[in-house]
Amino acid sequence: MLATALLRQAGRRETAKVASMTQTRSIHDLTFRKKTGQTMFTHGRGGRSSTNGHIATVFGCTGFLARYVVNKLARQGTQVVVAYRDPDEARHLKVAGDLGQIIPLEFDLKNREQIMECVRHSDIVYNLVGRDYETKNFTFNDVHVEGSRLIAEAAAEAGVARFVQVSALNAAEDSTSAFLRTKYLGEQAVREVIPDATIARPGTMYGHEDRFLNRIGDGDGWQFWVNEGKAKIYPVSAIDVAQALEVMFLADSTAGKTYELYGPRAMTYQQIYELAREISMKPLPIRSLPLPIAKFAASLIDKLPYNQMISPDLIERMTLDDKPTPGALGFKDLYIEPVDLQNVGIHYLRRFRSNAVFDLPYEKGEGEVKKGLYHVID
Ligand SMILES: NC(=O)c1ccc[n+]([C@@H]2O[C@H](COP(=O)([O-])OP(=O)(O)OC[C@H]3O[C@@H](n4cnc5c(N)ncnc54)[C@H](OP(=O)(O)O)[C@@H]3O)[C@@H](O)[C@H]2O)c1
Repeated sequence: MLATALLRQAGRRETAKVASMTQTRSIHDLTFRKKTGQTMFTHGRGGRSSTNGHIATVFGCTGFLARYVVNKLARQGTQVVVAYRDPDEARHLKVAGDLGQIIPLEFDLKNREQIMECVRHSDIVYNLVGRDYETKNFTFNDVHVEGSRLIAEAAAEAGVARFVQVSALNAAEDSTSAFLRTKYLGEQAVREVIPDATIARPGTMYGHEDRFLNRIGDGDGWQFWVNEGKAKIYPVSAIDVAQALEVMFLADSTAGKTYELYGPRAMTYQQIYELAREISMKPLPIRSLPLPIAKFAASLIDKLPYNQMISPDLIERMTLDDKPTPGALGFKDLYIEPVDLQNVGIHYLRRFRSNAVFDLPYEKGEGEVKKGLYHVID
């Protein structure tokens, strides 16, 4: 008798436990896009293994910035369509979300049907496609203007609620750099198709996989600069830019606006090299090249069928000061405080140190090195 009663009691407890775990849907599980009225149901307890009902497509997903953007979107339970050209290059993104949350789809920037397929089910599209050099298949115009236009047209046709175009700081119609001119024209092309597209203009980005600090730290004896390294830029962390893009995902107030996303401190290339030397504890020698010679050498390297790392246009960009537009929207309007390269540079440059000094602390940077720690973990 006693045994049966105990068993019944245990059974009741088990049923109550299962019932408390069963999720019931209520009004707060429902979200909708203001622009299209599209409704979405959340499922699960939040995080990578749940779904928030949103579907985002990221073009340019195989790039440096995109891995942080995809990670941040997937972390909230967004299903992310990652549009790739080479499947091997997109494989690392799979682990950003649970099974079925990251959906790789192949696309060609000139193929309208494939682009359409990538955006068909999405409620937000990010265009991160960009290139620092031209190839025989794709000019700057093809990548930044026509490519952006095609993606925007597909998104508009599919009724996508939000569009975020990643351009570049200093993008201007009259820039001496073709990259920056076409980035500006790309913004215009997108706005013609989707007037309330959000435009993000990041400055020079740094991070673990960048083509900026890594080149400085790696290039023992092979580094050069033009104009004596006097050009002044505002280096910005890719993590801060990705966070800004994440905020734009839900904040409909960012629609139709342009945000200039640059770091808090202006630094010349000379100062950046000095910082890299101090942190890496290496001499990092550098040659100063006259501009015409650097451009000529870059134009020869640019013609190689491989190793297209430098182009005359990139050299031209190295001579330009960053000129943020006065009064433009930026990080503070998204409630983000960007980190300072001087404070977090140790995380990215320590790996260039020799074994003997690898563990030594770097105490400069206004003593705020620790402030940057979340950057590594996040
Ligand atoms: N990095 C910076 O400091 C910086 C500064 C200002 C602005 N931006 C802009 O910010 C965005 C992201 O920067 P990032 O450094 O992450 O760029 P990235 O590493 O060079 O990645 C660029 C992405 O665009 C894709 N892409 C390039 N040409 C393409 C084409 N013809 N067809 C299809 N896809 C193509 C690449 O795909 P594949 O892997 O298949 O080539 C890659 O996924 C870019 O638009 C860039 O111009 C970057």
